[in-house]
Amino acid sequence: MDVLAFLYPALRPLLFALDAETAHRLTIKALRILPRGPVPAHNPALRVTLWDRHFPNPVGLAAGFDKNAEIIAPMLGLGFGFVEAGTVTPKPQPGNPRPRIFRDPENDAVINRMGFPSVGMNAFKANLEEFLETRPRPEGLVGINIGMNKSQTDPARDYMALVRTLGPFADYITVNISSPNTPGLRDLQEPQAFRDLAGQLLEERARACGRHMPPPLLVKLSPDLGERQQEDLARAALDSGIDGLILTNTTLDRPVHLPESFREEKGGLSGQPLSEKSTDMIRNFYRLTGGKLPIIGAGGVSSGLDAYDKIRAGASLVQIYSALAFQGPGVVKRITAELAQLLKKDGYATIDEAVGKGI
Ligand SMILES: Cc1cc2nc3c(=O)[nH]c(=O)nc-3n(C[C@H](O)[C@H](O)[C@H](O)COP(=O)(O)O)c2cc1C
Repeated sequence: MDVLAFLYPALRPLLFALDAETAHRLTIKALRILPRGPVPAHNPALRVTLWDRHFPNPVGLAAGFDKNAEIIAPMLGLGFGFVEAGTVTPKPQPGNPRPRIFRDPENDAVINRMGFPSVGMNAFKANLEEFLETRPRPEGLVGINIGMNKSQTDPARDYMALVRTLGPFADYITVNISSPNTPGLRDLQEPQAFRDLAGQLLEERARACGRHMPPPLLVKLSPDLGERQQEDLARAALDSGIDGLILTNTTLDRPVHLPESFREEKGGLSGQPLSEKSTDMIRNFYRLTGGKLPIIGAGGVSSGLDAYDKIRAGASLVQIYSALAFQGPGVVKRITAELAQLLKKDGYATIDEAVGKGI
């Protein structure tokens, strides 16, 4: 998508003059209609094999940017190694009233209280099938991030329906139990609730996808867990048989250096102010699980060095969202190029060799 990367510096002031969500919808429309650039050539030194799956590089698009699986091909075209589409809910729902995304460009920070607006799993599946039929299809993998409808009182029912319907199409599935914007969702991080849900979903996955190479099941956690909760969850995650963790979702923290009018918005904070907190949590979980559970790191990654810090803290892959809003589409290739240089400088031949080396 070199056209968009080329146009971005001129478009940026316009996008930042618009309401954040309008800018986002416009970006999605542009990505859908603009001609695709050449399929990116990935640097072989950045390839990662995880869960027997091949990631052309370790930098992915975090959930929430492509909620409805509409722009997977153009996003892979920007050079991402993988795209996590969703969060998708079983039934369509509008999410919270707008405005519900707020940017603070001074501090590279975003607050959102989207509340899972979703076209629902059937329309999502149709979009995904369209991508899977794209020829030529850009290299890169597709994760699907699933969440429950606001009206659901029995969360497991929604998550099971999503695993059944979308699991067979996914390179991995992420169970989102950490968004701060759906009442009751974060209660699923309570260890017993976590164990129950993970057990049910692993059974459902076996029924829906068979036992030969089913999509790995990952759980995405909040950065706002206390030390004791992290210890309990690390044990529960290892015992449960899930395949990995995504660390982290957005935070409810409001660092004092952020401007007051921004800080007062309700919702989850992402971007630079989340960076250190999420890296600390990656390090904690890497230690607590003895490196046995692969981690995808997210939170304030905006440079190759940020990505490298998360890898050295124990992440096998990383994801970005907020940096894309502030730096535009060129950020992906910048991060992968910087990461390759950092690896080389430290004498690592592969990403895998660097995972957890900085703890
Ligand atoms: C506007 C917005 C919407 C998001 N929506 C979702 C979502 O639907 N599901 C999810 O798991 N995470 C969602 N996230 C969280 C991101 O996936 C990511 O975990 C978080 O933003 C930290 O990464 P970042 O600092 O690079 O943005 C959203 C983030 C933003 C800014």
